[in-house]
Amino acid sequence: MAKLKSVYYCQECGTQFPKWQGQCNACKAWNAIVEEVVEAGSAKSHGGSGSLTTRSEPKTLDKIELNAEHRLVTPDDEINRVLGGGIVAGGVVLLGGEPGIGKSTLLLQLALQLSPLRVLYVSGEESEQQIKMRASRIPFSNPNLYIASETQIEQILAFQKDLSPHLIIIDSIQTIYSDTFESAPGSVTQVRESTAKIIRIAKDKHIPVFLIGHITKEGTIAGPKVLEHIVDTVLTFEGDRHNSYRVVRTNKNRFGSTMEIGIYEMRSNGLREVKNPSEIFLTSGNEAFSGVAITATMEGMRPLLIEVQALVTPFIYGNPQRSATGFDLRRLNMLLAVMEKRCGFKLGQKDVFINLAGGLKVEDPALDLALVCAIVSSMHDIIIPQSTVFAAEVGLSGEIRPITRIEPRIAEAEKLGFQEIFVATTQLSDLSKKFDKIQIKGVGRLQDVFPLVFQG
Ligand code: TYD
Ligand code: MG
Repeated sequence: MAKLKSVYYCQECGTQFPKWQGQCNACKAWNAIVEEVVEAGSAKSHGGSGSLTTRSEPKTLDKIELNAEHRLVTPDDEINRVLGGGIVAGGVVLLGGEPGIGKSTLLLQLALQLSPLRVLYVSGEESEQQIKMRASRIPFSNPNLYIASETQIEQILAFQKDLSPHLIIIDSIQTIYSDTFESAPGSVTQVRESTAKIIRIAKDKHIPVFLIGHITKEGTIAGPKVLEHIVDTVLTFEGDRHNSYRVVRTNKNRFGSTMEIGIYEMRSNGLREVKNPSEIFLTSGNEAFSGVAITATMEGMRPLLIEVQALVTPFIYGNPQRSATGFDLRRLNMLLAVMEKRCGFKLGQKDVFINLAGGLKVEDPALDLALVCAIVSSMHDIIIPQSTVFAAEVGLSGEIRPITRIEPRIAEAEKLGFQEIFVATTQLSDLSKKFDKIQIKGVGRLQDVFPLVFQG
């Protein structure tokens, strides 16, 4: 038997150490170093995992041929969008997400939709029967979809050779292991080395690969951080488990923008693409409530109208509570302080709860003005007209600040039938387009907004 030796890896950054220590020298993470047993000598043989092609030589720039990236445009527009226009030949995509959110469903559905292309779907998590049952709920079929319940990387590479598929899906990378290494599946060595092998095949044979990755409690993809560096694209699948909407977000993309999102609805027969996202984030129905304001945010290149809900109540005991779902709590506290100082609202005596409809998380500062108006609306129990939209940032001195890409936001609000939109006065001069159906109201200070919204 080969001689075994122990090496120590930092689970955060993948740095290797000869012996255990409490803190990683490279990334300063505590308690991240774990022991792994490898075969003596193998550490050297896989040292070259960084080189992705079999052999290469340095070339001068003018010798390098520019061949247009070959992309496979799938029938799923949301996937195309988050990948920057389709699946790139030889591109390796890591899809992370919480358990049960729908990662396996998303990729199985994609495999079925790609018919008649040959797809190899390797699952280390579910049996063939389970996958068949899942596939039977999805209303697409692909006679050239091959399912393999397998976890050994050498075996998977052999399947690739036999089938030469157009796409490989691996569910999940944490279950895959190689015989060369002694450590358990899911460990730093196994995950990293299996991924490196997969990437080499993808690049050599120009086969796109999707890897499903588990997520830790902290929300990062489990396994070494290096995994995220060596793949081409990192997508995360997120959403509230109690809500049927799911969002695919691009966190890293060597072949396109990282600002894009794709939106799906989980149905009993798989995931449905949501073509007009604004509609789902607005509460349907004609009844108006106080504490609700609508904002026009941007998700990637797409404008999205969403509803901001606020509840302000007198606090009863202890400290007043501030809670925000889908919005940064620190930013909420800042806005409350601005309202108190600049407009004289007595918010110190109130509990304030904020929720964004549809389980979405938004970081766009354009949400500020809608949030402030929703709070005032709830506090004084006055309804904001349902035809009103807000799109502006609020500064520390209560000034209304301009935001990016105002025109597509106004256009989206107009398209959905809103009649007025509040923006920063300073932004009005940026507008080159004419909007006839929606009234654009410029405001300069927070104090000026309330009379217009609540009495007009
Ligand atoms: P799954 O893809 O197994 O999640 P993951 O791979 O991220 O762990 O999907 C999990 C949930 O999706 C599961 O609770 C059942 C539900 N589901 C549907 O609602 N409709 C469907 O058509 C399918 C296949 C699953
Ligand atoms: Mg799964």
